[in-house]
Amino acid sequence: MTFRSLTVDHVSKAFGATRALSDVSFTLRAGAVHGLVGENGAGKSTLLKIISGVYRADSGTVAVDGTAVTPGSMTAAEAAGIQIVHQELALFPHLTVAQNICAGRAPRKQGWVSVSEMERRARAALARLGADIDVRRRVEGLPTADQQFVELARGLVRSSNVLILDEPTAALPPEDARRLLAVLRELAAGGMGIAFVSHRLDEVMAVTDEVTVLKDGAVNSSAPTEQLSPERIVSLMVGRELADLFPPKAAETGRPAVLSVQGLVAPPLVRGVDVELHEGEIVGLYGLEGSGQDEVLRCLAGDLPVAGGRVSLRGRRLRTGRVGRALRAGVGFVPPDRKHDGLLLEASGIQNISLPVVRRRFSSGWWVRSRAEHRDAAAAAAEAGVRGNLDRPVVTLSGGNQQKVLLSRLLLARADVLLLNQPTRGVDVGAKAEIYRLIRSVCDSGRTALVVSPEITELLGLCDRIVVIGAGSIRGEVDAGSATEEQVLALAVAS
Ligand SMILES: Nc1ncnc2c1ncn2[C@@H]1O[C@H](COP(=O)(O)OP(=O)(O)OP(=O)(O)O)[C@@H](O)[C@H]1O
Ligand SMILES: [Mg+2]
Repeated sequence: MTFRSLTVDHVSKAFGATRALSDVSFTLRAGAVHGLVGENGAGKSTLLKIISGVYRADSGTVAVDGTAVTPGSMTAAEAAGIQIVHQELALFPHLTVAQNICAGRAPRKQGWVSVSEMERRARAALARLGADIDVRRRVEGLPTADQQFVELARGLVRSSNVLILDEPTAALPPEDARRLLAVLRELAAGGMGIAFVSHRLDEVMAVTDEVTVLKDGAVNSSAPTEQLSPERIVSLMVGRELADLFPPKAAETGRPAVLSVQGLVAPPLVRGVDVELHEGEIVGLYGLEGSGQDEVLRCLAGDLPVAGGRVSLRGRRLRTGRVGRALRAGVGFVPPDRKHDGLLLEASGIQNISLPVVRRRFSSGWWVRSRAEHRDAAAAAAEAGVRGNLDRPVVTLSGGNQQKVLLSRLLLARADVLLLNQPTRGVDVGAKAEIYRLIRSVCDSGRTALVVSPEITELLGLCDRIVVIGAGSIRGEVDAGSATEEQVLALAVAS
């Protein structure tokens, strides 16, 4: 029987005292891409996890073509043709790309797993996504975007009726994201129902047929995309119009240098980078995927060994090579992949925020002065706008709030230089504006930030100038107040 629709009927779910979903109903039609939007913590991931059987609803039902799906069972959801690609990557790092894609579904010949058939299927799924990845490689060490493609390919080979994608484009550079959106349209045209969560409203407008807005765990509205605009969606999400996404730029230029980088080399991707960050400045570092921008940040943060060059902080040589040491010296880092590089998932929000400074600031001998730790970490979290219970494991916070925990950490550590790789990844529009204002106000107080993002429009809006990197060296620089997206791109692709 061909699939017609998936219906969610009066679903509610609480985690302890947190009401994540209250009486949510919605319908996902075959042949449609259905956007699900809402602020961080609105309940999007929880709803998708209920549909895919990861969580069991407290009440309400999920049905495919009128037949109820056994609640809280991933096996039952899979049997009903439902697959989810989670917001946070969930791959087996020690297995190969092909094994990850076919995990639990390995094709067999006479009882033996057929490796060649498995690899063929994996290659076909990746090719459909336009991703060129060696299927025999282990997943660990793959760039984040490639890992995201492996997750997507896994969803693709397994789903039949419904494919659920929780922020699939957050880790992808724009060209890859566009390709993925095209694949979603094809899948829908083939009769599948696609549920799609994204904080990038331009994508939501471009790819969806219908949009459901969740607010505080309830459906605020559900409407055909053609009746909506990005402005309208924002006001449905946050309950008000958003005045300005970006804060004003630095009033003053030519202030003293905070961080100077000369001839930075870290083979193979960083091949001689010079850049200087001044007090009060936000500088963007833009490059096409794999141009060395991520590695420059990691070198400066102490997360990647430096082979040559000189880095100085307020005139004094900065010893590179250790993250803790860099942070103590005043150089703080937010990595792009918070789950793997940034957070201790089982530790509380408070502990995650105070982690780098707890020994130095909040302990005497073996004793941790937890009242002081709690007070100061909570203040930093409030400044960064974290919402949620900070005493619970950080993994229980929504994705966007986890991101804000990482920023809080730098505030508490009073970092002089903020190295931020995609600081608003997975963050809702309202919170994005808050984070931009926060970075600006930190820099106004005499500090400085170097920001990497795949979105040129974000860098143009947030930064004072943008330094463009290509093949590991600096290609040029533009004034963010007057440059266009095309100018930045032209520098990035020039050889
Ligand atoms: N396992 C859990 N334990 C406790 N609370 C949870 C758990 N998972 C989610 N929550 C809470 O439920 C609420 C909804 O979270 P959810 O992850 O569904 O939000 P979201 O809309 O996906 O947000 P984001 O855009 O940040 O990903 C939040 O208050 C969150 O802290
Ligand atoms: Mg989520």
